[in-house]
Amino acid sequence: EQIEKGGYDHFMLKEIYEQPDAISDTYRGRMLVNENLIRMAGIDDNIEKFLNAKRIIIVACGTSWHAGLVAEYIFEDIARIPVEVEYASEFRYRNPIINKDDVVIAISQSGETADTMAAINLAKENGAFVFGVCNVVGSSISRETHAGAYTHAGPEIGVASTKAFTTQITVLTLIALRLAKQKGVLSNSQFNEHLRELEQIPEKVKKALESNEHIEVVASKYKDAKNFLYLGRGFNFPVALEGALKLKEISYIHAEGYPAAEMKHGPIALIDSQMPVVVIATRKGHYDKVVSNIEEIKSREGKIIGIVTEGDVEVRKRADYVIEVPETLESLTPLLTTIPLQLLSYHIAVMLDKNVDQPRNLAKSVTVE
Ligand code: G6P
Repeated sequence: EQIEKGGYDHFMLKEIYEQPDAISDTYRGRMLVNENLIRMAGIDDNIEKFLNAKRIIIVACGTSWHAGLVAEYIFEDIARIPVEVEYASEFRYRNPIINKDDVVIAISQSGETADTMAAINLAKENGAFVFGVCNVVGSSISRETHAGAYTHAGPEIGVASTKAFTTQITVLTLIALRLAKQKGVLSNSQFNEHLRELEQIPEKVKKALESNEHIEVVASKYKDAKNFLYLGRGFNFPVALEGALKLKEISYIHAEGYPAAEMKHGPIALIDSQMPVVVIATRKGHYDKVVSNIEEIKSREGKIIGIVTEGDVEVRKRADYVIEVPETLESLTPLLTTIPLQLLSYHIAVMLDKNVDQPRNLAKSVTVE
């Protein structure tokens, strides 16, 4: 097992560090930057289904559901296709309206999640076209869907999902871009800008990983907190949910993710000097509004950990700690802002002496209801 961990203390840490390669493995061969082209067999062969779809319904569980939420922002922004994101376990039991011209995208790392499988079967029975985004090659979901795209993240052993999440977002971004080009909703130069930026992401993830030691310091400062709040807006709202989930899963500290502006409708009541608040405040995502949310937290003595763009000034002035990530297109920021949140939860769990790779009560793949 030590050999399999490749010199890392835990699979989770190894998998966090594998993300630059995993992301480039995901787009390799699919994204042809010089030719200004995206080639994905599962989409190309079924392009009419996607173009005729009045909406896309995404079904998934857990971290994959969070990737689906990021995809909702990306599909609507880039490809201008309406998207609904559903917990598979809710969708399967609530008599959903499914039409023949719906495209259902099922996201699953393992490809074996029982609720996601049941949602797929229901969609198929109702005549929808079902597309799978799986990591495990040959898994049940990859076989049962009409078509699909693998994430090519490589095996993920840590129960808390890391590289599966960022590679799911990568595949979904490729799909959104492919459709946007076909629909003509992005100009050639906008399309090319996205490809060039996506190609830079692995290097930028490496840069984000360089904050590891600093994040360890932040972790040591807040590891004994009883509650955490995670806030983000737009593309980074689902990242806030995912950051909170990571902390809960492996450190057993209660954490909630919220859209930053919703804070005033509830969570603000919890803020006091004992409450660390992780705020994703990158420059391109409603920055000024998030800065004013930070002011509100500060005036209630909450502790602020800002996830910011390199060179940030305004959040740094107000926060207790900032963790920088490189600049990129707004739609691609989740691929970077996720990284420090993974490392923060990892270090807190290690410091609290928890079983990082196999947290209590959780399974890597939930094949029963
Ligand atoms: C379990 C795992 C999570 C995962 C979820 C969905 O709860 O512990 O990490 O996100 O299942 O799994 P899937 O394989 O369908 O992505």
